[in-house]
This record gives sequence, C-alpha cells and structure tokens, in this order.
Amino acid sequence: MMQNKTKEHVSVFLNELVSLLPVIKDSWYIDATLGSGGHTQEILSQGGKVVAFDWDDAAINRAKTQFSSELNGKRLFLVHEPFSKLKEAVKFLQNQGIPSLFSGVIFDFGTSTEQLMSEERGFSFRGSGVLDMRMDVRLAVMAKDIIAAVPAKQLAQLFRDFGGELEADRIAKAIKSSPEPIETTKQLADLVISVKHKKAGSLHPATKVFQALRIAVNSELTEIQLALPQALSLLLPGSKLLCASFHEGEDRLAKHYFQIWEEQGKGTRLSKKPMMPSDDEIISNPRSRSAKLRGFIKK
Ligand SMILES: C[S@@+](CC[C@H](N)C(=O)[O-])C[C@H]1O[C@@H](n2cnc3c(N)ncnc32)[C@H](O)[C@@H]1O
Repeated sequence: MMQNKTKEHVSVFLNELVSLLPVIKDSWYIDATLGSGGHTQEILSQGGKVVAFDWDDAAINRAKTQFSSELNGKRLFLVHEPFSKLKEAVKFLQNQGIPSLFSGVIFDFGTSTEQLMSEERGFSFRGSGVLDMRMDVRLAVMAKDIIAAVPAKQLAQLFRDFGGELEADRIAKAIKSSPEPIETTKQLADLVISVKHKKAGSLHPATKVFQALRIAVNSELTEIQLALPQALSLLLPGSKLLCASFHEGEDRLAKHYFQIWEEQGKGTRLSKKPMMPSDDEIISNPRSRSAKLRGFIKK
C-alpha cells in the first residue's frame, strides 16, 4: 500500500471498528470523537445512524458540509460538546427521535491531523504558532498559561506523568529560567532541543513535552474517566464499546474500566490484550503505529 503523505486525517482501525460494532441497518451508534468524520462516514455508508460528538467547532463545521444530506435526513446528529457530557446531550436529543440506548459507541482518542497541522492552534513543534493546544476554544487555559503559571517542580511532574519525559526536571528549569516568556511552539521546541542536545530526527525531541501539555490543557484523562461509564450506560445489552488509543494513559484507562466491569459482571472484554494495527495499516498510515484498540461487550 502507498504511504499516505497528505495533511488529511486518515482514520485508524477503520475496518476493525466498524466491522466489530457491527453496523446494523437503521440502528443508532455514538461516535464520541467525530474528528474528520472517517468512522461516522463508514457507519452511515453501511446504513447505520449516528450521534457524533466533537468539542472542536472546526470539526463540527466541516461535518455540517460533508454530511449535509444525512443531517437533513436526520440520520446524523452533531453535538458540539465534550464527550464527558455524553448522557446529558443524548437526553437532550430525545425529543428529536434519538433512542435512549445505542447499538454501539466508539472513541478514537486524541487529536486529528487537521488539529496537528494547524500552525496557529499550537499543537505541533513543527510550526511557530502561539502555544495554545486547546481542542475546544471554550476552554480557559492555553499551554502557554500553564507554562507561565505552574512552578518548575510541578511542571516537571506534568512532563513525566503525561509525557514520560525523562529529562523533565532540566526542561522545566530551563523554561522557568528563560529570559523571555515561552509563548510559541517554536520557542518551546528550540528550548527542548537545546536542553536535550538532540536534533529533530524521526521522533522530535519535544514530542513528549508537547504531548504532556496537550493532555493537561484538555484534561484528556479526566474526560475519558468521566465518559467511559456513561458510554457503558448508553449501550443496549449485547452491544459494544470500542476505544482506539494513542498513548499509554488513554489505553490504561480503557483497560482499567473494562477489567473492573468484567469483574463486576457488567459484560466481557473482547480480548485481554489490545488489538494492534496491521502492518499494512502502519505503512499506509504511520500515525497508527502507536494505536491500540480495546472493546467491551455489555451484558
Ligand atoms: C483522533 S480524532 C478522531 C478522528 C475520527 N475518528 C475520524 O475518523 O476522522 C479525535 C477527535 O476527538 C475530538 N475530541 C478529543 N477529546 C474530546 C472530548 N473530550 N470531547 C469531544 N471531542 C473530543 C478531537 O477534537 C478530535 O477531533
């Protein structure tokens, strides 16, 4: 397969997610992370109906154009809210013909390629935008605010906990002793490169620091903790909750909940170990190389 080099998002586990659900004609599904609409598109094209969430207004606006006929036909509803409000939003939609229980819920955690590629949104170390990193512009705190306000010790802890950064202390100290405030992605990337004495190779030296800040800005792990139990409660008996993760923190939460739920008799895990992308998928979509997929079948 050809390697994909476009700036468009390529959905991970596209076939797996949709065939595992599986899609039953005219049944309702929740796509908790709409993004560029790849998974939603596939469910719709197999005859399913979708309630799709994204807290990024750019994703919602793209989908309004992309799926205008499905929106008009009421086969798709878009919800511009964090997925931690899953139940509340579904309840709100009930007077529009949406059921209270669904035939499947999917999560594809993290950021989309469009978010990463947008220099001004500040997610990527390859640009020179403001260190923003908010997926939802209604959030109050940007990455540059965290860097300015959090003391060196806690900043280092954040880089360790959310990024697994081994040189967290030295990076945090360098940030705090910088003569100029660190407010752009380029300033931060250059600072990390100078602290680590490493050039940008296949894994950029600032990858872990950027990941840690993004997780903190968007309270990503708290969002997942709040959303997964709600997702389970919105499933019809026998239907599945599927989670695609990109980093350890996300996968650990899915693993934890699925294991506890199984012990509590709420259903069964699809498998004990996560599923990994195929070699073909990794070649065609290198971003998928760290992806893991876990599933849970509700009793
Ligand atoms: C990896 S992308 C999803 C890609 C999508 N599955 C596709 O096929 O195009 C993740 C999306 O989830 C959204 N997202 C992340 N955390 C969220 C949250 N807590 N609430 C709502 N949306 C969230 C992001 O804004 C992003 O658009």
